This record gives sequence, structure tokens and C-alpha cells, in this order.
Amino acid sequence: MTSLSLDKVVIGKFLGVIFLMKTVVNGFSFGVDGLSMEYYLLRCPSAELIVKTAVIQALEADPKLAATLVWLHFHDCFIEGCDRSVLIDSTKQNIAEKDSLGSLSLRGFEVIDKAKEQLQNVCPGVVSCADILAMAARTVFWAGGPLNDIPNGRMDGKRKIEDIINLPAPFFNASQLINMFGQRGFSAQEMVALSGAHTLGMARCASYKKHLMHGTDPDLDSGFAKTLFKTCSAGDTAEQPFDATRTTFDNLYHNALQRKAGVLSTDQILYASAETKRYVNGYSFSYAFNQARFFFDFQQAMVKLSKLDVKEGSKGEERRNCHKIN
Ligand SMILES: *[C@@H]1O[C@H](CO)[C@@H](O)[C@H](O)[C@H]1NC(C)=O
Repeated sequence: MTSLSLDKVVIGKFLGVIFLMKTVVNGFSFGVDGLSMEYYLLRCPSAELIVKTAVIQALEADPKLAATLVWLHFHDCFIEGCDRSVLIDSTKQNIAEKDSLGSLSLRGFEVIDKAKEQLQNVCPGVVSCADILAMAARTVFWAGGPLNDIPNGRMDGKRKIEDIINLPAPFFNASQLINMFGQRGFSAQEMVALSGAHTLGMARCASYKKHLMHGTDPDLDSGFAKTLFKTCSAGDTAEQPFDATRTTFDNLYHNALQRKAGVLSTDQILYASAETKRYVNGYSFSYAFNQARFFFDFQQAMVKLSKLDVKEGSKGEERRNCHKIN
């Protein structure tokens, strides 16, 4: 068992390194999106290290933060492009994304603030909040996940109001999920890969109890349904991990779906629906190959995510304070 999991890690990292070499080679020629792996090489060489140090220190104190940082990145990029509107504070006139219902589980803003403060001392006005979050999202790597190299060079958005209409709702069926991800340019397979980020997280009872209440969910293992009920007996804010290793990035999330132990209805539906089941199967078996495939696809989907509607030049700004528009 130990050697098996070691193999999984080694192969996953190996594929990650190959992918890194590919992105480095590609990165030197700036893409149409203006993003590059070397964006801060001359502009602010210590940018990566500063963010990484802030994140690692925070993770040492609270390993659960890994899930939050990845979620922040997804949440921000998926809605209207990675422009860090997710970080803007609410004013009385506008209920910012941070405070809206779908975002209640968002934490980890302090980590971003701390990194920003340090960067302002070293290279003032250079590193966008958008890029800080993209760099922080690589925490999956320190949680044992694939190298998650996301190119930099984004500007922060100037939008004040963020809506969450474009986020997948907890009651969506498979076709609705496929549709929504499709609108953002993701295939069903990429959606299943991205959902694997749940391997690091927890869900509150409030987010899954509705689908439990409709009697026995045929897609769910009855023993696991009891576990979910038990968690909920502690109240709506009681948390249920998505898989057995919630601070380790691995394929146990997909494995749980295969065992009909998906926490959210939008998790289990990925296995219940014929359109997505084969991708879950492709990632979830305990062979080294399956996890490596998940790691590889996840890495690529995250890079794609990080390039959604990127703001460049005059369309954006470098936010001096990540919580406020300049
Ligand atoms: C999914 O939900 C939509 C909207 O409610 C509905 O039109 C569609 O038939 C549903 N699809 C399946 C496979 O249940």
C-alpha cells in the first residue's frame, strides 16, 4: 500500500515536471493572452517566493486553508474571468461576491493580504492581486497535488459588483452542469477533473442536506447517507469532508464517487450520469495510472481556468489594496 501510494505520487510529479517543461517552453513566447510563466522574472523576481512563503506558513497553521485557496481561484475565475473581484469588500450599495450566499465558505483572504503587503514593500505597484491568488492556488502542489503552474500577468478588474449567477448551483443535474462548464469552454472531462479539487475540502451540512431529505437518494450508498445525516445532527454549519484525506490532494474524491459516497448531489451525479461516469472511473481506481491521469488533466484544466477572460493593460489595474478598487 505504501509503495503504491508512493508510485502514485512519483508518477504524478513526473507528469507534472514534463508539463512544467512544456509550459516553460511555451511561456517564453507570450501568448495572445499576454500571460507568461516568466512575467515577474525581471519585474519582481521574489514575487513567487513571497507568496509561497506566506501560503506555506498559513498552511502550517491551518492545512484546511489549501481547499479555500483553490476554491477562491476557481470561484473568481469561473464567474467572469480571473480579475480578483472575489476579493473586493462589500460597500453598503453593493453586496460583493465575498458576502453573497454562495461564497460563505470563502476564507483565506488574510493570506492574500499578507503576501500583498510584503510585495508592496519589495516591488510596489507591480504584482496584481489577481496574480497573487493564481500563485496561491498552487497550494495543491504543497498538499501533494500536481505542479500547478499558472502563468502570470493579469491585471485586477475594475468591476464593483460580482454576481454569482454563473456558479454551478448545488441542485444542478448533470446536463445543467455540463452546460454551464461548456459555456465557459470546459469539456465534461475537464469538469470532472476540476471537481477533483474537492479532494481538499469540506462541505457544510446546509449545502447537502436538501438532497438527503428527499428520501433515499438512489445514487447514494445507504450507509454513507447515514453518515451524512449524523454530521447534520450537529447543525447546518457542521462540516463533512469530501474524502478520507481532506488535506492531501489525491484521487480519493473520485474514488468516493465510485463507492457512491459523494457529499454534494453535484458530486455524486458525476458518477450517476452516463456522460460523466467514465471520466470518474478513469480517475478513481487506485492504480498509479489513474491518479496520474487525474493530476495531469487537473493541471491542464486549472491553467485553462486561470486564463479565462484575463484583463490586460488599460482594461485592468494593479490594485494597491486587494479589497478596494483604486
Ligand atoms: C436537468 O434539468 C433541466 C432543467 O430543469 C431539465 O430540463 C432537464 O430535463 C434535466 N435533465 C435530466 C437528465 O434530468
